[in-house]
Amino acid sequence: MSRLVVVSNRVADLRKSSQSGGLAVGLADALRERGGVWFGWDGETVATRPTEAKVDEIGNVRMISMPIRQEDYNDYYIGYANSVLWPLFHYRLDLVSFRPAFFEGYMRVNLQFASLLAPHLADDDIVWVHDYHLIPLAQALRNLGCRQRTGFFLHIPFPPLDLLAATPNHRELVEALMQYDVIGFQTSTDVANFRHYLDEWGMAESVDEDTVRVDRRLITIRRYPIGVDADAFREMAEQTPDDVRIDSQRREVLGRKQIIGVDRLDYSKGLPDRFRAFSRLLSLHPELEKKVTFLQVAPPTREDVNAYSDIREELEGLTGSINGRFSDFNWTPLRYIHRPVARETLASLFRASRVGLVTPLRDGMNLVAKEFVAAQDDENPGVLVLSQFAGAAEELREALIVNPYDIDGMAEAINRALYMDLDERKDRQKALRARVSEQNAQTWLESFLRDLERPGKPVLVRDIDASAA
Ligand code: G6P
Repeated sequence: MSRLVVVSNRVADLRKSSQSGGLAVGLADALRERGGVWFGWDGETVATRPTEAKVDEIGNVRMISMPIRQEDYNDYYIGYANSVLWPLFHYRLDLVSFRPAFFEGYMRVNLQFASLLAPHLADDDIVWVHDYHLIPLAQALRNLGCRQRTGFFLHIPFPPLDLLAATPNHRELVEALMQYDVIGFQTSTDVANFRHYLDEWGMAESVDEDTVRVDRRLITIRRYPIGVDADAFREMAEQTPDDVRIDSQRREVLGRKQIIGVDRLDYSKGLPDRFRAFSRLLSLHPELEKKVTFLQVAPPTREDVNAYSDIREELEGLTGSINGRFSDFNWTPLRYIHRPVARETLASLFRASRVGLVTPLRDGMNLVAKEFVAAQDDENPGVLVLSQFAGAAEELREALIVNPYDIDGMAEAINRALYMDLDERKDRQKALRARVSEQNAQTWLESFLRDLERPGKPVLVRDIDASAA
């Protein structure tokens, strides 16, 4: 088995429990099992560009990390990654703020990643690159003479042709992407968008459903839906801490049900519309007064990007007005936590909630949806209310699927979830549990690596012609 080298912008601290969901959690779950190398940015900024990376061994994982320069952080991370690619790939052209310096910084940092990683690579390693920050990394590595099989997985959505084409440099980006041997997406919609772009711009010849040819190389393009370590998460959820237990008992005495949402405070997560739907629920169903509470955990993220401070203000305003309108001296309908909460606590809070709200306007997968399912008590499960625009909706069909732009529709779905009888909840949970357990972190990793590890270097055209003859 070849050594696996994972590369992502952000690396998780494998010694600490971390926030729920997201790339780092999914990768940490997968890497702990298989072992290998994890290379990325350590989250620090410095005045001068580093010339080498730091190495740390944690169990069977070698962590290699490096800081980036402040100027690079501005152009690459704040700029191109999070003010261009993130909004663009989440279908939010209105929030894209493009400057040529951003793209230059993006290419510069990808080159830094490549030159600090290259000395650590052995010839027979396989390299697996993650997410939108690092699209040009294979190209940068190839230019340094690295010939390892290299795959790329996009954790976020891939946008439709016309949206992508609206940004300068889109061709360079896709050309760089075509330097990988395997390109993975979360959903079939993403694969279809990408294949459509390739066809329209004449960038590759289609060979079959999963393969295209560029010059003399074959590239695998497939959907590999990411999962969580469902069994470990269930076990975590079963260890209820005392404070969560006391809180649940109090609700039980009062006959109150809890609705929960957990998301980074990102505009793609649909939080203002979710809050409005909760408000609509309370006004349409006054009988729910004191019978329901909504707990939203939304830790801060990317606060240096303007669009993120705007959403924070909007949400704080909404929280104040909803609580001002509906609260009583002994009931606060909406609790909004703008701080990180430990993953163990979240797991038991999921289990203690009757409804999980995952209503992004657009999301690559959304692992919180899968964690919510994994955490439930199968004998008395909660109900997942899930946006049709989360990648997870392609798999988790037994959730209550909602349109996150339809406030009334969401309010009615929450109401239905609150009153759903036990038999229906158990039936839905059974199907969802099966899917979340089957398509877990490990199967995701294995299915991608099966394609990446396929023996031999990229197949040459003459080999295909010969075998066809
Ligand atoms: C999403 C992205 C990841 C990113 C994470 C946290 O899950 O797909 O690549 O690491 O958000 O965002 P941050 O900017 O803090 O790394």
